[in-house]
Amino acid sequence: MAMGFQEFLSIIYNRRSIRRYESRSIPDEALRVILEAGRQAPSARNLQPYCFIVVRDPELKKRLVFSEWNRFIQEAPVVIVGCGDSRAKWAVVDVAIALQNMVMAAEALGLGTCWIGHFVEEEVKRTLRIPEHMKVVAMITLGYPAEKPAPRPKKGLEELVRYDTFE
Ligand SMILES: Cc1cc2nc3c(=O)[nH]c(=O)nc-3n(C[C@H](O)[C@H](O)[C@H](O)COP(=O)(O)O)c2cc1C
Repeated sequence: MAMGFQEFLSIIYNRRSIRRYESRSIPDEALRVILEAGRQAPSARNLQPYCFIVVRDPELKKRLVFSEWNRFIQEAPVVIVGCGDSRAKWAVVDVAIALQNMVMAAEALGLGTCWIGHFVEEEVKRTLRIPEHMKVVAMITLGYPAEKPAPRPKKGLEELVRYDTFE
């Protein structure tokens, strides 16, 4: 599974958010590799203040949909809910980094993902029985892609990058 630099970059450059999935499930080994990529992420003071809830139950997935646009959550064979211990200062950042590691690992395995930031935290916590001190940071859907979306427009580097000082 050796990978060249070009291949590595193509995984970053070619990733798209996938909102349509095939119904076939994700092999356990692929899921394990994806979760492992999350586990290997950097975290502030190496606290690793996270919990990743792998949701596969159709009834539970249904209850993670809070808008018409996010109905595709039900179609994805797996949803990973990223929770962070709110007592850790950088928990939100730590969880985000770990989830993005999983997104990249999934892409490398030919799986599609979509970040989900639209949800009612209290309801997700009740549904998945998440304790008070854990914050629901975001979710990602996971499955074999059933669409190939065109690239989204991205701002140019000249708009995003400044050198040495802001002004
Ligand atoms: C923090 C975050 C939250 C997001 N929430 C949602 C969401 O609730 N529903 C959705 O369909 N897409 C969601 N997205 C996906 C973005 O819409 C998508 O990344 C963006 O349009 C760029 O497209 P691309 O991922 O294909 O490059 C979210 C992305 C991020 C990073």
